Amino acid sequence: MDKEYTILMLPGDGIGPEIMGEARRVIDWLGAKRNLKFKIHEGLVGGAAYDAHGMPLSPEILELAKQVDVVLLGAVGGPKWAGVDYDRRPEAGLLTLRKELELFANLRPAICFEALVEASSLKPELVSGLDIMIVRELTGGVYFGEPRGIETLENGERRGVNTQVYTTSEIHRIARVAFDLAGKRDGRVTSCEKANVMESGLLWREEVTVIAAEYPEIKLDHMLADSCAMQLVRAPKQFDVIVTDNLFGDLLSDVAAMLTGSLGMLPSAALGAKGGCAMYEPVHGSAPDIAGRGIANPIATILSLAMALRYSFDCATEARLIEDAVQKVLAAGLRTADIMQPGREQVSTAVMGDSIIGALDSLNK
Ligand code: IPM
Ligand code: MG
Repeated sequence: MDKEYTILMLPGDGIGPEIMGEARRVIDWLGAKRNLKFKIHEGLVGGAAYDAHGMPLSPEILELAKQVDVVLLGAVGGPKWAGVDYDRRPEAGLLTLRKELELFANLRPAICFEALVEASSLKPELVSGLDIMIVRELTGGVYFGEPRGIETLENGERRGVNTQVYTTSEIHRIARVAFDLAGKRDGRVTSCEKANVMESGLLWREEVTVIAAEYPEIKLDHMLADSCAMQLVRAPKQFDVIVTDNLFGDLLSDVAAMLTGSLGMLPSAALGAKGGCAMYEPVHGSAPDIAGRGIANPIATILSLAMALRYSFDCATEARLIEDAVQKVLAAGLRTADIMQPGREQVSTAVMGDSIIGALDSLNK
């Protein structure tokens, strides 16, 4: 019998359900036209789960997430839950999934589709052909470090604390992911931290250097994270793989996303130990300002599905097919509002989904 792939779909909040609906259609297409067998579960996460159960991730959904091959997540958060305590905020559901599934390696590829070169806020020659891989550490650093909290001092002042902390083993394992990936790409890794002001940054720099010795064929550079942000908007094509911590990775991947034309284009993969569950999600957030209007860009989510096919299901052919289909609809001039350019045709979320399915059909012949 053919292998059955299990996917837990967690649409989440804001535009999450809309974009996930289009990814679902691509999954159904793969089942019908490529003979792949999927077992799909669905559940609530984030604010949607908070509204239903008073918590952003129920124990049942967490358990299910541990059992499936892949979690496909839409987006979490929104102003509606701004007043909720941190441990029950929509974002806490996502962070718990990352931590509990030990998804320490976050791959965020920033690839500029040729058709979108003009949509970037940078000059076309700076982004044409851009292909960067940001490897963000995802289960450590200031996102999870203790102590944390807000306390009131005796003098009545309030004090907010978060802790940036990394251990050698955490740095070693994410560094290996980056070096392994670079070996399949252009063979260059740029490691980013703030070693000039932070001890944890100095440790990061030293321990990445230790692992580099295992990879003599890879060229390693170190760059201060602020300088990296500057270089990303000055001359982004100088980078191949960027490896960095949780917080800097969050920031730098948003910068890199915009180089490609829109945050609505960028997929991501959160991977753990080999063979375990992995989670795939668009880099963009829940975009509450445009939620429910049918205008969100479903491409980042559909490309996240392509990453799942490549990294979790060993279906590189189908992953490629999806990427080619996206390329095809963009080349044909179709644009959602976020990537709209003069002379192109602005389409809704659903029409973009239809068109990608249509392109899959024609490429599959
Ligand atoms: C991301 C997001 C998340 C993060 C939020 C939603 C918790 O910005 O995945 O980049 O900060 O990691
Ligand atoms: Mg972010």
